[in-house]
Amino acid sequence: MTTGGRTRAPFGVYVHVPFCRSRCDYCAFAAYTDRDHLMEAYTRACVEELTAAVAGEDLPEATSVFFGGGTPSRLPPDLLAAILDAVPRADGAEVTVECNPEDAGPDRLDRYRRAGVTRISLGVQSTVPHVLDGLGRRHTAGAVTAAARSVAAAGFASWNLDLIIGGAGETDADWERSLADLLALEDPPPHVSAYSLTVEPGTPLADDPARHPDDDVQARRYETADAVLTAAGYRWEEISNWARPGHECRHNRLYWDQGEYRGIGSAAHSHRNGRRWWNVRTPDRYVRELAAGRSPVGGEEVLTDDQRRFEALALRIRTREGVPTGALPDDPDLEGLVDRRGGRAVLTVRGRLLANAVTVRLDAGAASLGGRPAPGGPVRSLPMPEPESTTDAPPTGDLMEKVVGLCKRRGFIFQSAEIYGGFRSTYDYGPLGVNLLRNVKNAWWEAMVQRRSDVVGLDAAILSPPSVWQASGHLANFTDPLVDCRNCHQRWRQDKIDGVCPNCGSTEFTEARAFNLMFKTHAGPLEDEGAVAYLRPETAQGMFINFVNVLQTTRKKPPFGIAQVGKSFRNEITPQNFVFRTREFEQMEMEFFVPPAEAQTWFEYWLEERFQWYLGLGIPADKLRLRHHDPDELSHYSAGTADVEFLFPWGWDELEGIANRTDFDLKAHAAASGEKLDYFDPVTNERYTPYVIEPAAGATRTMMAFLLAAYDEDEVGGEPRTVLRIHPRLAPYQVAVLPLSKKESLEPLSQRVLSLLQPHFMVDYDVTQGIGKRYRRQDEVGTPWCVTIDFDSLEDDAVTVRERDSTDQVRVPVDGLLAELRSRMDGA
Ligand code: GAP
Repeated sequence: MTTGGRTRAPFGVYVHVPFCRSRCDYCAFAAYTDRDHLMEAYTRACVEELTAAVAGEDLPEATSVFFGGGTPSRLPPDLLAAILDAVPRADGAEVTVECNPEDAGPDRLDRYRRAGVTRISLGVQSTVPHVLDGLGRRHTAGAVTAAARSVAAAGFASWNLDLIIGGAGETDADWERSLADLLALEDPPPHVSAYSLTVEPGTPLADDPARHPDDDVQARRYETADAVLTAAGYRWEEISNWARPGHECRHNRLYWDQGEYRGIGSAAHSHRNGRRWWNVRTPDRYVRELAAGRSPVGGEEVLTDDQRRFEALALRIRTREGVPTGALPDDPDLEGLVDRRGGRAVLTVRGRLLANAVTVRLDAGAASLGGRPAPGGPVRSLPMPEPESTTDAPPTGDLMEKVVGLCKRRGFIFQSAEIYGGFRSTYDYGPLGVNLLRNVKNAWWEAMVQRRSDVVGLDAAILSPPSVWQASGHLANFTDPLVDCRNCHQRWRQDKIDGVCPNCGSTEFTEARAFNLMFKTHAGPLEDEGAVAYLRPETAQGMFINFVNVLQTTRKKPPFGIAQVGKSFRNEITPQNFVFRTREFEQMEMEFFVPPAEAQTWFEYWLEERFQWYLGLGIPADKLRLRHHDPDELSHYSAGTADVEFLFPWGWDELEGIANRTDFDLKAHAAASGEKLDYFDPVTNERYTPYVIEPAAGATRTMMAFLLAAYDEDEVGGEPRTVLRIHPRLAPYQVAVLPLSKKESLEPLSQRVLSLLQPHFMVDYDVTQGIGKRYRRQDEVGTPWCVTIDFDSLEDDAVTVRERDSTDQVRVPVDGLLAELRSRMDGA
């Protein structure tokens, strides 16, 4: 839709296309290789979002439109044209489409031209075959030449060629060759972008330090690029962009000018009137929200004036115009990093390499931008899609999505470091989550320690020296076999994929490499080999190395156990499924030391005990099973292992492993330390090394299983409700005290009830909203009993107790309330 009329202030529309053929292993964008089936629905949703914005007079005519992603050229041209047609555009609007070279054939480009596209951005990255291979790109150098020819032949006067600096295996000569090849094209691109390969947390690249680019090498290649491009008549525009005069990208400029833009599609960001907002991240959800007539907005922020001023400077300092000299202090550290002339401070080439160090010295209060519109910033960061890394996508099925949503909405679990964009696969437990997790651990402790006279507790250190892990076999054996798919370059654990790449179906893989999962650090100020320490990958070893201490101080004798609950750390290759597999997690482990001849009997005993524990706390029997390991699955220490498995939304998976560890650990530590780690039986006069039966459960993983098993939806009084039918012992709050109204007259009695119950239960106290809404809020977080104080209570000194699952209500005298709730709790 092109409209005539007056061109107002620049306004951009960014359309996010989330589809990709394969995922590059350095990419953290919200792009998907398995959602092509959504293309048509996604197009309809984009058109709907645009149409609604136009109808709401919320979409000025665009002076630039940018299709990015993902791989926009993956979208059939007619679908792309349908979206573009719904964008109101000013006369002469710039319309850019990012395109893979292998897609840029004459037919597609011709259709783009006819649809109104004016500019192509080719994702070339390199022209050197082995570098392309390392980056996971499918095109050849020949495809680049052909694509450039087609772009020119189709009549695109302006186009861009994207390069990446620092792909694996790239040499200086390779980099120079890519630059030379682009200049040698029949019609060289009038605009060039060169981005340093950045290691995004959570990508396979991040897990492979050997392939991380070296800062000095990157800097050298950047300087080469600037010299070569400048000599060839390109003008430096912004850190990563060079253009021949007249071919600057208008859409980029808008971002660098902190201008206004509207993002369309999943994960797209928008900016208007100082407000920034972003759409929901996955295309599935985006389509669903629009189909249901709901807004696709997933979040928003409003910048303060100070933040806006600082951001404007931070964006502008990266550009050819620089900032007013007053914005930077006269600091000798900035020597050689900025050029000060004509009242402006502009980054030198070296300064561009250290732009962040310069940015932190900006003083927004000391300088205004001199009446010009506020400047904008790096193309790739602001309006582009939200990075993948902020939260793990819920894996499969509605249930998972609902439980993850509930956890966030009601404060069970937060993404860690969320205000900094999130630290992938790391979570913080909020006010409700911390109660629930604590209850899970307490229930375990009660069953495993408190109610037994043959098990004692321990809380060992998390940091331990290499000698522990050398002896335990973890340094040699605690590894995952890693393979890379030769086709799509995704990295996988070899033992999890049955020889077929789950991403692209290829059966071609690199040789497996052993990757040790332990987190290594240094204790003390020296970072040399003598100071190496490890974060424990299991709590178990703490029990083995304290075996004699416990034996001597408690006078226990086999069979007896040592139990521990605490954090463990594993540098998991594929952390996934919310808190199911994370790098930092909590374990609940018990090492049960037995005479060797009794090992099998105790193994079977603990299988039964542990299975019953989950059932007793409300996991339905049809969602729980025991699975014995095949001999080739067994860990290096195990003579037999069985897993308690739960039926997760993605299938059966492990909650707990119960293993017969034999005398492996005690003997290994005895041999390595020179200490005697055995037991002398004074009755039989026999000395032996006990065998160990180990039930090892994950607290965080188990908490998630309890949530999944408890989540339910039903109807109450014709109204839908969400209810967490969780066992009362696990519920974050056992009781909610709810005065019927905020009236002062109810307060003394409400406080009396609260004080009566708080020493015995976790109690929530809520006086906001109507009573029906408050019941729903408590149902949703699993509070088994609500105690309501009403005006009759002032007369009869009785309250109403409402039960969560049945919603049955009974009147109970305040005097008998504690006994009533205790008896319900005991009977649960
Ligand atoms: N000491 C034996 C041991 O650690 P494991 O099967 O590796 O055995 C025991 O771990 C339990 O710890 C698992 O069944 C699981 O519940 C939990 N667990 C292991 N790795 C985890 C991770 N990365 N994230 C969350 N929980 C994990």
